Amino acid sequence: MAASIDSIADTVLGELEGVLSETAEWQSAVLAGWRVLREQRPHYHWVGLYLLEGNELRLGPFLGAPTEHTRIPVGRGVCGAAVAEGHNINVPDVTALDNYLSCSPSVQSELVVLIRDPRDERILGQIDVDSHKPAAFDADDEQLLERIARRLAEVPGIRVG
Ligand code: SME
Repeated sequence: MAASIDSIADTVLGELEGVLSETAEWQSAVLAGWRVLREQRPHYHWVGLYLLEGNELRLGPFLGAPTEHTRIPVGRGVCGAAVAEGHNINVPDVTALDNYLSCSPSVQSELVVLIRDPRDERILGQIDVDSHKPAAFDADDEQLLERIARRLAEVPGIRVG
């Protein structure tokens, strides 16, 4: 039986906590979390963190094919649109979008989940996940990434200012 979303979140967050307790390098901890997430969710072919700095998203730790989109202005692409519109975006078919920044021709669907500061709801960044399968993401995936996003919002280095 497939593991429940809660138990997958526990596993990913457990890994994150473990590495955070050993090192001040939060990027290593996030990367370790992404490794576990991809083991648990094999259809997540690319997983990355973007942090909002001013009017631009900057790529942080990611797992998957290298991307040229290391800086994305707010409003551009799916990632920038999520910030501009202030909500998560689930794209079942990226080829149907005009405002899409392609990382790889293999990507068919994408899910962006915002990371918000719990104190004031300010957007700190986002988790971006790509899949080579069409319509790969559903409400469970959003719930899973939201739990991870809530924890990431507490990590010094991600929560700045
Ligand atoms: N596809 C994204 C860009 C980021 S890459 O997928 C890693 C977008 O349209 O914003």
